[in-house]
Amino acid sequence: MAPSHAAKRVLVVYYSQTGQLTRAVQSFVAPLRDCPDIELVDAAIVPREPYRFPWRFLDFLDVFPESVYLDPPAIAPVAFDPDEHFDLIILAYQVWFLSPSLPITGFLHSDAARVLAGRPVITLIACRNMWLTAEAKVIALLERRGARLIDNVVLIDRGPPWSTFITTPRWLLTGRKDAFWKIFPAAGVSAADIEGAARFGRALRGALPTLQGAPTQSLLRGLGAVHVDPRYIASERIGHRSFLLWGRLLRRIGPPGSRPRRVALVFYAAFLATMILTVLPVTLAVAWLLRPFLSGRLRAAAQRLEAPSGSNCDRCGEFL
Ligand SMILES: Cc1cc2nc3c(=O)[nH]c(=O)nc-3n(C[C@H](O)[C@H](O)[C@H](O)COP(=O)(O)O)c2cc1C
Repeated sequence: MAPSHAAKRVLVVYYSQTGQLTRAVQSFVAPLRDCPDIELVDAAIVPREPYRFPWRFLDFLDVFPESVYLDPPAIAPVAFDPDEHFDLIILAYQVWFLSPSLPITGFLHSDAARVLAGRPVITLIACRNMWLTAEAKVIALLERRGARLIDNVVLIDRGPPWSTFITTPRWLLTGRKDAFWKIFPAAGVSAADIEGAARFGRALRGALPTLQGAPTQSLLRGLGAVHVDPRYIASERIGHRSFLLWGRLLRRIGPPGSRPRRVALVFYAAFLATMILTVLPVTLAVAWLLRPFLSGRLRAAAQRLEAPSGSNCDRCGEFL
């Protein structure tokens, strides 16, 4: 149906490798489709050099320095006119090495990202469970583009962290995400959580057409958009610092795919395995011991990181 004169224009920008994020996006925006007051434009980002799935082990590690340092890959021309006006932009991304995935970094650095200037943005993340640093980086890139974040929705793999440590790499390196050995649950965001993302679209469908002009503040509060687990705050900081150090070294050693860099990556993999088997358990034990003393501060920090949408679910019943 052709949009009416005052229809709100919504642009959805996303990239997905396995289709998980595409499904989350489709569920989120489904209530906006066929709504006469809303015109929806979908734009999948296509990197010029596709990332192979399932990943080969060294290719997987090889994208980490550029991911962490936000080195943009080239992307194909986008399916929208960046000079057109949109009332709202939904930017959906997944996390690669505590950073936005490279195709999304490519988009945010591209000429097409001028579409963001002055626009309100909702970020939608689907990842394993560590997204805090990536979102901080995306917010900084959005601000550089003159955009402002009004909401953030996060879907994670709700499996126990010890199991996602196994099930996510298994999925990414073999393509298999099913449950196995009776103790490991299926990898990825659950079908129920993906389906539940429709509540955000329903809330937008109710709120957007009634607004004068573009939204200026959160529209998705009270919908359980995001929950920050305080345990990940310190882990992400430590992990990111280590990524920055190794990333700088690896970028100096050679460009992605070069022989010297592949050799260095083998050493990095050995380092990573040693860290996971030694430092990680010690860090977790120390964090557990310090928890009673830090819990108040961590909870306050978690609440700040949940802004602008928050974890509160008091409007969930209205839109589920
Ligand atoms: C190279 C790479 C690095 C990743 N690093 C992280 C990470 O740091 N934190 C996280 O929560 N998930 C991480 N993931 C999981 C992704 O965020 C995402 O859930 C998964 O790749 C499926 O997304 P898709 O929609 O592109 O298929 C990583 C995935 C890949 C491929």
